[in-house]
Amino acid sequence: MFFMALQLFASSYLTIDIGFRYIKIIQVKKKKNGDLYVSNYGIGDTPKDCIKNGAIKDKDKVVAEIKKVLSEKKLDSKEAKIVVSGTNIITRIIMMDMMSDGEIDAKMKNEISTYLPINMDEYVVDYKILGVVTEEGTQKKKVFITAVNKKIINSYIEILKDLHLKPISVDIPANSVAKFFQKDIVIKELESSVIKRTPKVVSNTAAVLDFGSETTIINIMKDKIPEFNRVLLVGSSNIDQAIRNELNLLPSEMDKAERYKKMYGLAKYKDQNNELEWQCSEAAKSVIDDILKNVKMNFDFYVNRCAGEPVSKIYIVGGGSQLKGLKGYIEDIFGVPVYQISNVEINGIEFQAGLDRDKVSFLINAIGVAL
Ligand SMILES: Nc1ncnc2c1ncn2[C@@H]1O[C@H](COP(=O)(O)OP(=O)(O)OP(=O)(O)O)[C@@H](O)[C@H]1O
Ligand SMILES: [Mg+2]
Repeated sequence: MFFMALQLFASSYLTIDIGFRYIKIIQVKKKKNGDLYVSNYGIGDTPKDCIKNGAIKDKDKVVAEIKKVLSEKKLDSKEAKIVVSGTNIITRIIMMDMMSDGEIDAKMKNEISTYLPINMDEYVVDYKILGVVTEEGTQKKKVFITAVNKKIINSYIEILKDLHLKPISVDIPANSVAKFFQKDIVIKELESSVIKRTPKVVSNTAAVLDFGSETTIINIMKDKIPEFNRVLLVGSSNIDQAIRNELNLLPSEMDKAERYKKMYGLAKYKDQNNELEWQCSEAAKSVIDDILKNVKMNFDFYVNRCAGEPVSKIYIVGGGSQLKGLKGYIEDIFGVPVYQISNVEINGIEFQAGLDRDKVSFLINAIGVAL
């Protein structure tokens, strides 16, 4: 029996996603059938001002916080995968004439530098063959090239070293999100107001919006293959700032502003007896409107300049996606169904019984990098 159990589970490992606001850590095992089993997770507070331009600046504080989460949640694996911050990553999607994957490997070895405006010595460059697409009647292979500065990667590896964790891999959010959404997503909720009306847009093109603290990341996927990725340098913490301004709070009252944001979200109507709710909600709306205007511009760019199809559904992930009223607000603006990832079932990803599923929206990158 013992032997069977060993066969069923490979060894477990950790994945770590250090966001500007929260550090997300999960402990997982790959099952023999390829399914992922999440045995536990923990979410810590990212110490303030520790990440600059994508690199970890104050390593010791970050390491101390991770240690705290590991011990509190009894996460004891000795190996780890880590996701680097979404800012300052260079990505390119290129189309290549049809040839074997081996031929692409050979070509990339020699030519990859011609696609990137960087000093190759300073970067870790990688590529992935996404699949075959048809462009103006001819088949092409789509290749996704990424480059991350070595200093950034090293700052993350140093963290793992200090934690005595053996690094398995370092990945970027675009890859982890894409891997997550390659899984079968089963939508349970049928009450979406937009689905009740006939969806305006029918296509296999979906967008994932990661509402982080300092960033909002737009991913567009067609038939589950990543097609488009942009990082906006506006996030949920800008709402805290807007609420602070609106209410004339002191800089030291940023926590209060964040609490109001979580409490009130986006209100649909003004409640005459709750002026505070309306003030906070209006502040939040101004930031969300700004983000969504930008998202819409990028969707339009994708359709008009990248020969993409219109986005027919939107998944919202990241802590900022928890904002009350956000789902309905986006549905009203874009006219397509919007799904919060905590309300869907994901085939091939199992959670230990009793784990709080509400927090899954925070864990997409951590789960994705595990896959
Ligand atoms: N219930 C809630 N309602 C609204 N906002 C929330 C809620 N819970 C958390 N947030 C916000 O979510 C943000 C953190 O989300 P997340 O952990 O995805 O960001 P991050 O990964 O740390 O940031 P980034 O991706 O920009 O590095 C914070 O701004 C926080 O205030
Ligand atoms: Mg994040």
